[in-house]
Amino acid sequence: MILGIGVDIIEIGRLQKAIERWGEDFLNHVFTPEEIRWAKKYKFPYPHYAGRFAAKEAIFKALGEGQASWKDIEIQNSPAGRPECTYRKNGFQNNILLTISHSKDYAVAQAIVTE
Ligand SMILES: CC(C)(COP(=O)(O)OP(=O)(O)OC[C@H]1O[C@@H](n2cnc3c(N)ncnc32)[C@H](O)[C@@H]1OP(=O)(O)O)[C@@H](O)C(=O)NCCC(=O)NCCS
Repeated sequence: MILGIGVDIIEIGRLQKAIERWGEDFLNHVFTPEEIRWAKKYKFPYPHYAGRFAAKEAIFKALGEGQASWKDIEIQNSPAGRPECTYRKNGFQNNILLTISHSKDYAVAQAIVTE
């Protein structure tokens, strides 16, 4: 059963500016070490940060609780590249389905929470 859905879109350039301005402090506030490692594999990492940022916002919407914080959620990729989500909250036993896309200017993500 579907318990919640969420979607988010972000301008990659805005996130790039925030990262350039606030540097590691910003990255470490929003992303887990594994998420940072994934993005840094790429010469131009900003679409990958932006995709994860949009994914976390989409997941907040899908959870509909408003109490999660950035790093309670970790997004990793399967060997095929598919994004998978871990939500580190005691007692959370549902599933979160996630999809991410990015183009030149935007990243978008959709999340679905199921039983
Ligand atoms: C998977 C595929 C559809 C992605 O298309 P794409 O246009 O490159 O993807 P977009 O630019 O829209 O989005 C990129 C995001 O798609 C997601 N993604 C990548 N591979 C994926 C996959 N196999 N399944 C689901 N989502 C995938 C990732 O979240 C990625 O962003 P991230 O690397 O920052 O996490 C495409 O690579 C493809 O058709 N590949 C061939 C089939 C396949 O499954 N190959 C896997 C190789 S083992």
